[in-house]
Amino acid sequence: MIYPIVKYGNPVLEKPAAPVTEFDDELKKLVADMFESMYEAKGVGLAAPQIGISKRLAVIDVSFKENPREKLVLANPEIIDTEGKQTQSEGCLSIPDFRENVTRANKVTIRAQDVNGKWYEKTGEELLARAFLHETDHLNGRLYISHLSALKRDLIKRKIRKLVKAGEWK
Ligand code: NI
Repeated sequence: MIYPIVKYGNPVLEKPAAPVTEFDDELKKLVADMFESMYEAKGVGLAAPQIGISKRLAVIDVSFKENPREKLVLANPEIIDTEGKQTQSEGCLSIPDFRENVTRANKVTIRAQDVNGKWYEKTGEELLARAFLHETDHLNGRLYISHLSALKRDLIKRKIRKLVKAGEWK
């Protein structure tokens, strides 16, 4: 099932999500649906709050279907180590058509549970490091625009308010 992506302005995006506790068939179905919804939206990462489900669950595939081994399920992820810096253009499926440069760590190690509840650690660099941070932020109710200067963030918010008024932000 393909879920519509929740957009900025919906409170579910700005509240901390609840831990995943059941690693059952329902969760497996949700994870499969999240991958499907992410690919449909042309994204490389998707967090459950972005489909209106306030759970600490995200999926990532920085290869975008090229390499099945790069499909990652992050349940209850924690950032356990960061190193270095990178500045790259970043966007979010919940804030479509906007992109801004965001400085983040260049190398990030996470600890998370897979779809079966098994804990694992993984280190990612560059885009994967960015995805780990971006998606974990989502689970804490934080969006990438919170990493921008107040000036840039307010400009984006103002543009979005205009789109909302015009009925072009649903
Ligand atoms: Ni996002």
